[in-house]
Amino acid sequence: MSEHKVFVTRQLPPATLERLSAHCDLEVWEDFMPPPYEVILEKVSQLSGLVCLLTDRIDARLMDAGPSLKVISNMAVGFDNIDVAAASARGIPVGNTPDVLTETTADFAFALLMAVARRIPEAKQYIHEGKWRTWHPTVLSGQDIYGATLGIVGFGRIGRALSRRASGFNMRVLVDTLEPEAEVSEAGGEKVRLDELLRESDYVSLHVPLTEDTKHLISKDELAAMKPTAVLVNTARGGVVDPAALYEALRDGVILAAGLDVTEPEPIAPDDPLLTLDNCLVMPHIASASVATRRKMAEMAVDNVIAGLRGEPLPTCVNPEVR
Ligand code: GLV
Repeated sequence: MSEHKVFVTRQLPPATLERLSAHCDLEVWEDFMPPPYEVILEKVSQLSGLVCLLTDRIDARLMDAGPSLKVISNMAVGFDNIDVAAASARGIPVGNTPDVLTETTADFAFALLMAVARRIPEAKQYIHEGKWRTWHPTVLSGQDIYGATLGIVGFGRIGRALSRRASGFNMRVLVDTLEPEAEVSEAGGEKVRLDELLRESDYVSLHVPLTEDTKHLISKDELAAMKPTAVLVNTARGGVVDPAALYEALRDGVILAAGLDVTEPEPIAPDDPLLTLDNCLVMPHIASASVATRRKMAEMAVDNVIAGLRGEPLPTCVNPEVR
């Protein structure tokens, strides 16, 4: 038996787990649903490594309950579920899974944009409800994508990947970012302030992490600044948008429609008012869910935990200042 015990909070591909088991004494949570916080809290006292998902809250209390915890590896690019400052303060490196999901997630953001703009879910419903009786000049008319203006909020890997897709659709791309203007223009975009982006864009797609600064970044005033024909797409984190303000804006025609892969909270309640709206398409946080990408994410999460157990730098670390 290895000196290192590792807990993985969900089933991962068997081959990936087998590779990990060669480096540690492995325990995997078998349920479909995530382990309750109290379960992780109890297990962590014995752990050297933890592989977790964005559904697991990993806070200072939990870290303090794991005196031998050497590494936390999140199978996600986002890490707002982990108190990274607390991990750094305790010398625990935290891994994430960037890059491998960039193109898959950007594909999905663009798919949401197109589905909502061209009213594909509504059209499906229309047929299923037996409403298709004839070709009609105006029924289910949507918005053009080709040649429209796309506002990208946040210009990290996924925001940039979305701008590459937009160029194929001859879109004007406006970007709100802290990155230098030259980088944005090199990628074919125009750096603008958020208020200008909201005013001018036909589509607004969010690509910022959830932090104290971005919590409810898109709220009543921001929605009011958008065009009445605008579409909002969120594949970042639900908390970046104020859901009550979004509901009112969609209901009252302040903006045209929204495509959300992420919600606040997750999962969205079946009786959430957003789900009563025809102009809101809500997906169950699946933007990175291609078979190949999810496999790569699991591999990366395992690479990170193995490096951490060995005391080596994690291949992808969100707090590299921890040595
Ligand atoms: C998914 O949302 C991720 O952060 O990987």
